[in-house]
Order: sequence, then structure tokens, then C-alpha cells
Amino acid sequence: MGAPFFGRLLHGGDYNPEQWLNFPEILEEDLRLFREAHINTVTLGVFSWSMLEPRDGEFTFDWLLEIMDRLHKAGISVILATPSGARPKWMADAWPEVLRVDAERRRALFGGRHNHCYTSPVYREKVRRIDTELARRAGEHPAVIAWHISNEFGGECHCPLCQQEFRRWLQKRYQDIGKLNEAWQTVFWSHVYDDFPQIESPSPIGENGLHGLKLDWKRFVTEQTVDFARAEIQALRDAGSRKPVTANLMYDFDGLDYRRFADVLDVISWDNYPSWHKKEERITALDTAVQHDYMRSLKRQPFLLMESCPAATNWQAVSKVKRPGMLLAASLQAVAHGSDSVLYFQMRQSRGSFEKFHGAVIDHWGGDSRVLQEVAETGRALECLSEVCGSGVRSDVALIMDRESRWAMQDAAGPRNENLRYMDLFLRLYGAVRAAGVNADILGEDQSLDGYRVVILPMVYMFKEGFAEKIRAFVSGGGTLVATYWNGVVNDTDNCWLGAAPHGLTDVLGLRSKELDALYDGDCNAAAPVLGNVPGFTHTYTCGTFCDVTELTTAVPVLAYTGDFYAGEAALAFNRFGDGTAWYAGALFEERLYQDLLRVVLRDAGVQTDARALFGGSGIPEGVSVTSRARGDVRYVFVQNFNRFAVRIPAELPQGAEVLYGSFRGKLEPLETLVVKFS
Ligand code: GAL
Ligand code: ZN
Repeated sequence: MGAPFFGRLLHGGDYNPEQWLNFPEILEEDLRLFREAHINTVTLGVFSWSMLEPRDGEFTFDWLLEIMDRLHKAGISVILATPSGARPKWMADAWPEVLRVDAERRRALFGGRHNHCYTSPVYREKVRRIDTELARRAGEHPAVIAWHISNEFGGECHCPLCQQEFRRWLQKRYQDIGKLNEAWQTVFWSHVYDDFPQIESPSPIGENGLHGLKLDWKRFVTEQTVDFARAEIQALRDAGSRKPVTANLMYDFDGLDYRRFADVLDVISWDNYPSWHKKEERITALDTAVQHDYMRSLKRQPFLLMESCPAATNWQAVSKVKRPGMLLAASLQAVAHGSDSVLYFQMRQSRGSFEKFHGAVIDHWGGDSRVLQEVAETGRALECLSEVCGSGVRSDVALIMDRESRWAMQDAAGPRNENLRYMDLFLRLYGAVRAAGVNADILGEDQSLDGYRVVILPMVYMFKEGFAEKIRAFVSGGGTLVATYWNGVVNDTDNCWLGAAPHGLTDVLGLRSKELDALYDGDCNAAAPVLGNVPGFTHTYTCGTFCDVTELTTAVPVLAYTGDFYAGEAALAFNRFGDGTAWYAGALFEERLYQDLLRVVLRDAGVQTDARALFGGSGIPEGVSVTSRARGDVRYVFVQNFNRFAVRIPAELPQGAEVLYGSFRGKLEPLETLVVKFS
């Protein structure tokens, strides 16, 4: 199924009228303010279970249907949520098995949310029943455009039911216990299992050092959660609904491998809550851009921004109010990276309980606030950009960021346990691509590399079966590879690959990694240009954290370490393999190296960008983001200034280009956005 097309950029967010049923005048006022704020979509029902089924098997849908009628009359669409993110008290009291058991084997009491067992047959049956009712009674309402499955899937349960499922899952995966013992290297510390029923999930009071077990447990938790989501979707389908389904994912969430959700959901959505103004906005914007690109790349289709905060959150250590212009810029950033929506949490600020101080479109005062005005401005911008809806993002560059590999790497107990600085490395490489105004996809190892010109491997510690072969084919077919230290170290079951590293790529890179030196924080080395180096580098770059010492076979050195016992050995090397090119960046370098390297890589790989037409030879100023979406021959180029100062746009509006949003007048103010359409 292709990406669902909603016809307009969705603008609105989570709405909880069930908190206001005793205030009819407020529900009335909401509709007026929604109009004022250019709201066209709300999400209903995310945590409404106790209002939909106050007693076991007793359903009350009238309030929901009435609200939906009124929203529909006002031209507002509804994303309808299944309520499984939190359950009613009656259920927990009658069936304690629905409550989660933590890693120390303690069962939770009723309370909070997201604390249910994904395995419990009772929970699954109750969820299926409420989802079926919801689909039958409300799913075909003309206001409904999509389903929102549960809320922010996450967490794990260690109850006896989950243990049983885990063992069954392992049995299916390994078939015989001998294979499992080998895969997990259980002979180490005498942890050999005789049979599957002996296996227990990892626990701080039990098995906590067996990496293979921990990795498989995380895989199982993902599979179990995906299976739960699949069962919810099946309930809706069995009840006759054909509406597209989504689930709201979270920022760089470590608990699940989101790749496994890609085939289950029709459209990916996610909840974006950056701490704007904590660091310079350009830094936060880059960090956020990674997540947008990651989410879009899960299906390589437009996604939805399901939640964002119109003002300030209430759960961050310090919740700073967004400065004027921030909401608009952050919202358009999502669209620039492929979102077909700007949705908020929440529409009306709740009166009591945990989120009473969380920012909302309508606050406790209830009037036409500064925030509401900026929401309205965002809504007008989205109306102006309406034709962008459904267009894709084309990328010539892919960075590999694989969750399973990251799980294994974090658990490695290796050269640095304090801080691997994975994200620092990733951001430097990603930032260098983006600084050239080039789009980037962020892929798991399982995704196809067809059509990319450049593939970047930042610390892809785990090479799963077949991954090295895919990279080899990519390079020999003419692609350009940029690899860093700590690539291809372990296999799927977290056992080290034997022989030369990076596994399967030593001839592609023309070298092998001999020793990986970990530096203390504050330690520093440097890499100086080698005389007559191919790209003509002249600068000396500082480096630290990791310095890989390599033995070159066919690769030629570009930079060489200046210090320590490996002074003179290659820090950056270059190789030709088949019709392609491979670079090896052996240390964590200062940012500038990645900028200089990617400039050469992108140029030599023939990667095009409309940024060149807009900024001419002078290049894109630092802190300015250029991203494009495309449909057929039409390209929408989003230019955003995330600096705290104005920047100049030197060139004339290029031929064949028109301004779709904003104004083209030779400069961009802080947080200003310009969208240029090229046809
Ligand atoms: C999200 C959650 C919402 C709301 C929001 C507050 O993580 O899905 O229900 O709690 O955070 O920022
Ligand atoms: Zn459980």
C-alpha cells in the first residue's frame, strides 16, 4: 500500500472532550477557537477507555459520536485512537494479569498508563472487543480519516506469560538448545542451558551479562509489541474498517526496533518534543532533523507529525516557553522533511492531574492567546503549502542507523563504556550532508540501497547476515562508501566476526583495522594531510575518543595521525573498489573534517541539490537548513534559518522557480522559512 493521501496538510492534535462533558459552553467555544486557529483535524479517544466502557461489556459511545458529528459539521477530520494505552480500573481489579511485571519480577499496581502486559490473553481479548466496538460504532463516521493505534508503544513485561512466550519464540528461532548455547556463547561463565524452559528474561537480580540473551530479549519485546499492534489492527479490519492505521512513535526510542513496525503500519507518525532554546536552535534543529528523516525512512514515504507542543511541555527538567516564531519554524521543519501534518499535544489544556500544566492550543484562560495566534499562523502556512501534501523526499545519500546494532554496541563492554559518542559521530556526518543542502535517508541494515549514490556507515557495529555483501555490491556497482571505526565487529547473535575487520569489507576499504585505541575524555590526537593526497586536503584536524590503527593494503592514506605510537599511520584513507569508491574515517574528528570530506564525496558522486541554484557558489550559510520534497518534476525547496541572526540569500530567484511560501527578498530573518517551487 502506498502512503495514504489526506488531501491537505493536517493541522490540529490530541483532543479530550471527555474531560469537558460537564462544560457544554467550553465544548462550544472549542469549535470557535479551532476555526480561529485554522484547525482541520483532531485525534480523539487516546485514553478514553473508561468513558467508552465504564463497566465490563457496557459501552457508552454517544458522547463520542455527538462530538464527532459536531466536528464533522465544522469541517474538522478525526483521527480515531484505540484506547489500549491505559485501561480501566475494573479490568485491573478483576484480572491482575493485565498489569505489567518489571525486570525484578514485581507486579505493578493499577495506575499510570502504558503498564500492561502485551501477552496477557485477557488484555488482548478486552482490547479486541473495545476496538471492534469502536470500529463498528464510530469507524465509518464520515469525519474519520485514520486510526491511531494505542499510544507510544514501549516498555516490557517479565510476567510468567511473557516468559513462556519468550521461550516459545526462542525455540522457534533456534530449534535446539545446542544452537542457542552456541549463539549466546553460554559456555562462558558456565551458563549453559539444558532446555528452553530454563530460560529467564534478563534481570538485574539474575542474568544480566549474557549479551546474546539480552539482544534476543529486546528482539522478542519488539516482536511481541508489534504482534499486539497487529492484533489491534486486525480487530479493526475484521470489523470492516479499511482506514489507514498509524501508531505514534517516539524520539530515538531505544526500547523497540521501529523497523519492525514499518510493514504493519500504513503511515508512520511520531511525537516530537525538542528542548528548544536550551542549546542554539540550529543545534536542536539538526538533532530533530535526524529523527524526522529516520521516521520518514522507515517506510520511505511521507509521515505524520502526531504530537508536538504548541507552548512548553511540563515534563522536561525545565520547560521553556517557545519564543515567537519557534512553533512555526519547528512545524514547517517537519513538513520540510516529509510530514503531511502538524499535530499538537494538546488542543485544550486539561484542568487537573498530571498534564494540567502541559502547553496546549487553548490554555486555562481560554482566550485568543499568543500561542493560539502562532498556531493560527502555522495553520495559514500549511494551507498555503497544501499542494506539498503527499509529495515525497528524494535522497541520494543514506546513513545506516540500525537499532539492533546499537543495542549490541551499547551492551558491548568494550573499549569505552562511559560514552561511545555514537550520536556525536552520527550528527557530524549527517550534519555535513545536510550542510550541503542534500537530503538524507536513515536506514536499517535490512533496507534496500538501490538508487543511492552515497552510503555512510557510522559505527555500524553489528553486520547482520548479508549486510557486508550488500555494501560490497553497492560499491562495486559504482557507489561511494564512507565508513568509520567500529564497523562490522559482531554478527547477528552478538558474537565477534573472526578474521579481519570490518567484516567482509577489508578489500572494499583496502585496509584492516588492527587496534582500536580508546582515548580518555580530554585526550587528543590530530590528523595531518599526507603529501600529495588525492582530495588535496591541506588542513590538520584534531581527533579523539576513538583512533583506529589500520593496516593498508590497497587504500591510500589521506590524513595521518600526528601523535602517539601510531603517528604517521593513516587516519583517513581512500580506496577504489570495482566501479566505486570507499573512504575510511578512522577516528572521531572535529566537525570540519566531515564537512570537508562530504563536500568532496558529494561532488565526486555527482549528488545534485537545488541549494546551488539558490545560494550560488558561496554555499549555504551555517545554521540554514535546505530540504526538498518532490513530486514528478516539481520540487519544493524549504529554506529555514535556524540562526539567531539574519542571513543573506545572495542569488536571484532562479529561472523556473516561484515562491510558494514566505518572501524572497535577499535575506532570511531568524526562524524564517521560505519555500521555493521549482518546476
Ligand atoms: C506524549 C504522550 C501524550 C502526552 C505528551 C505530553 O509522550 O503521547 O499523551 O502525554 O507526551 O508531552
Ligand atoms: Zn507479561
